[in-house]
Amino acid sequence: MPRPLMFAANWKMNVAPGEARTFLDRFLAIDKAVAGRTVAFFPPAVSLETTSARLTGHSHYLVGAQNISWEPKGAYTGETSVALARGAGAGAALVGHSERRHVFGETEEETSKKVRAALDGGLLAMLCVGEKLLERERGETEAVVTRQLRAGLAGVKGDANLVIAYEPVWAIGTGRNATPSDAAVVHAAIRVVLVDLGFLRDTRVLYGGSVSAGNVAQLLAEPEVDGVLVGGASLDPDAWAGICATSPSID
Ligand code: 13P
Repeated sequence: MPRPLMFAANWKMNVAPGEARTFLDRFLAIDKAVAGRTVAFFPPAVSLETTSARLTGHSHYLVGAQNISWEPKGAYTGETSVALARGAGAGAALVGHSERRHVFGETEEETSKKVRAALDGGLLAMLCVGEKLLERERGETEAVVTRQLRAGLAGVKGDANLVIAYEPVWAIGTGRNATPSDAAVVHAAIRVVLVDLGFLRDTRVLYGGSVSAGNVAQLLAEPEVDGVLVGGASLDPDAWAGICATSPSID
């Protein structure tokens, strides 16, 4: 049985509340809501509530925070706890996105604490892993993602509400995506690690990094690719609805 596909939009530091409303009005008018698929939105924290309110009552939509704190509450200026995110309607959280790791210096230990906080607080955790260009050129891709998975999932139970996103750092925002077969090789390696760690075989592994209307069908044609995590191409409602309605194809 193929795993149900997930299409996740990471809006990064874009889309204010008013813009989210306009986006979703258009998106909901044209989205085909393909049966069995989940469409997830990761808006900036200020737009979580607007986004989740607009999508309430549609069970195939999911809204998540882009980042959460591992601390439950307290004097942590600028941070969003799991409870605060849930209060704004989040059902998921991205953890360990490459921009958190490489721009803001988030460590593997911090990533691991965030995964556990998200899961303990009742959120789906979407753990992002991926190698830098130099690591790929040195043939270290599998070693890097294996290390990130083992560290990020330490202490997490096998039946956790978990999605993995493989996002090679060199492919993010560069217009240069991993080829579908390159992605499939890494996804297969990720699945080996997940099974070794005792996670469910139906844990989804998404691909992210310069996904577009032009390459999504070929990526989804790989049985190892269970969906996509999309930045730039998710910022336009028509383009995003098109991506979410794509049939896997090898043409
Ligand atoms: P782009 O789709 O803009 O390359 O961003 C990918 C990403 O980082 C999604 O989390």
